[in-house]
Amino acid sequence: MDALEALRTRRTFPLPKLGEPGPDDALLARWLEAAVAAPDHGKLVPFRFLVVRGEGRRRLGELFERALLAERRDPPAAEREKMRTNPLRVPLVLIAWAAVRPDHPKIPEIEQIEAVAAAVENLLVAIHASGFGAKWATGFPAYSPTVREGLGLPPSARIVAIVYVGTPRLGQEIPPRPGPGEIARLWPEDRPFPG
Ligand SMILES: Cc1cc2nc3c(=O)[nH]c(=O)nc-3n(C[C@H](O)[C@H](O)[C@H](O)COP(=O)(O)O)c2cc1C
Repeated sequence: MDALEALRTRRTFPLPKLGEPGPDDALLARWLEAAVAAPDHGKLVPFRFLVVRGEGRRRLGELFERALLAERRDPPAAEREKMRTNPLRVPLVLIAWAAVRPDHPKIPEIEQIEAVAAAVENLLVAIHASGFGAKWATGFPAYSPTVREGLGLPPSARIVAIVYVGTPRLGQEIPPRPGPGEIARLWPEDRPFPG
């Protein structure tokens, strides 16, 4: 698959459509190399990843559930169950976080986080181009201080993505996407591209 085709056909796989196996270490290393090829203003290297697999996934699910109970009043039982079991549904979970330098004199925090978001997209495309599937999730765990602390991350850390990775077990359609004429306008003519 060439790069443009990989970009065009990447799509999110819901967790029930992902299964064993996950990648071996050599392939995972290549994905991470692709991820950190993202643009990085000031070369601050804000990219960080936690690699969670095997037994670690159970501990991660327990941490998500503990955080939910600590930070939300009376969460529904189904939500608790989801938090606890989501990581166990795939062979590999990658937590992408930004090692933000909050007081950097030139590069604002948002640009450091944007660099990590660009790395996450690179990662997703690399995963797809290798024949695996993934889902970028955030939701409650990404913004929970209990989760951040439980993962051993500093207070300045920003979790950008919880990426669930596995082998596609079922097909997944590419969702409808806007055409160039819907999202691009010629300026200053002010009409849709290509127009
Ligand atoms: C910052 C960010 C956070 C996301 N968080 C979630 C999430 O919590 N749950 C989820 O199902 N999808 C999440 N997604 C994935 C999008 O829902 C998904 O990309 C979108 O539905 C388009 O589908 P596609 O990836 O197949 O094109 C997130 C995507 C981004 C960029």
